[in-house]
Amino acid sequence: MIDLKKALAQNPYRKDFPLLARQPLAYLDNAATSQRPACVLRAMADFYENANANPLRGLYRLSVEATDRYEDARREVQKFVNAAAPEEIVFTRNTTESLNLVAYSYGLSHLKAGDEILVSILEHHSNLLPWQMVAQKTGARLKFLDCTPDGTLTDEVLGEAFTPKTRLVAVAQVSNVLGRRAPLKKIVRLARQAGAVVVLDAAQSAPHMALDVQALDVDFAAFSGHKLMGPMGIGVLYGKQALLEEMPPFLTGGEMIETVTREGATYAPLPHKFEAGTVNAAGAVGLAAALRYLQQVGFEEIERRETSLTRLALTGLRQIPHLRLLGSEKAEEHCGILSFTLEGVHPHDISTILDAEGVNIRAGHHCAQPLLRHLGVSSTARASLFFYNAQEEIEAFLEAMRTVRRKMGYAD
Ligand SMILES: Cc1ncc(COP(=O)(O)O)c(C=O)c1O
Repeated sequence: MIDLKKALAQNPYRKDFPLLARQPLAYLDNAATSQRPACVLRAMADFYENANANPLRGLYRLSVEATDRYEDARREVQKFVNAAAPEEIVFTRNTTESLNLVAYSYGLSHLKAGDEILVSILEHHSNLLPWQMVAQKTGARLKFLDCTPDGTLTDEVLGEAFTPKTRLVAVAQVSNVLGRRAPLKKIVRLARQAGAVVVLDAAQSAPHMALDVQALDVDFAAFSGHKLMGPMGIGVLYGKQALLEEMPPFLTGGEMIETVTREGATYAPLPHKFEAGTVNAAGAVGLAAALRYLQQVGFEEIERRETSLTRLALTGLRQIPHLRLLGSEKAEEHCGILSFTLEGVHPHDISTILDAEGVNIRAGHHCAQPLLRHLGVSSTARASLFFYNAQEEIEAFLEAMRTVRRKMGYAD
């Protein structure tokens, strides 16, 4: 268990997070989900205590206020990703749903047999299975951008993969296993030359770096609230307005219509065409509070803290015999994510042994089985940091790691 007082003294942000200020745990599973600051919890409680009604439906004042808060949250997201208009921001449940929306709505209506879809081998299953489905249903061909053992997508691989048949490229800005960044500028340039759309999975990047969809010139971008200190159950899909306009709805039903007759329906304008049913207004309000908090801390500060903690963790891990670190040698190329294996010990055992010492890390295939197979491993242990982590947690993690092999009966 960590010394809470020491951790709070080392990192002034910890006090903003009720769970971190109470639990003497080293919480190092931030790539799976982050903790929430009190301002996010308060914003959600305030919505339910003072403005709860079904948004977008009622004409009475309370419902109008609920609608206003929901639409204000959309504008907060628009600012955060620098989208051109609020109509380009669709609220979903999470990254997975956002990517499925693009696959079912854009993919099935725009791709055909003979077209090519490119994904990188580093993708989370959420940015792979939807494209497998589109390929199966349309006859398009799914092609992979393979990475080098340290997770690099080389110019050579990119150059060979794009053809005039490439219609869609789906990539994660940051890998959830290796923390490596994709060479997005090059990918977008090659996609433009081929006339393909770019779908960006920003689930792991949005919490750690500024996301400017206009500067990046991606066509779609998806991220989840819960990984950047927002609530679970709220996610975002950014899409260029012209593309969203021409796409059919993904889900149909209440709230996404203009008129309904016995025979059919006309749909509501953007973004409501893609938000069928009662929306997660409190989630959107909580997400907006998380984005404001994130921007107050600032991405420079976030990167500075994470890189320094990553360096400390890397130095310690390198001194542990029989440990193999995956990905880059450089701390700046991990985005706070450290995946590793320990010879003779299953990652599940590593995680269980660390848990007994109050250290929370993830073990398994991280929803990226093709990548793990490509790297020649079946599962890894993964510690992932966020700016609110303290040196004390990294030290507890390293101390516990040094005992693992001995606890499993090895001499060193
Ligand atoms: C890179 C990446 N993409 C997509 C997802 C899926 O996110 P969610 O489960 O919030 O839909 C994750 C979650 O770990 C991820 O790391």
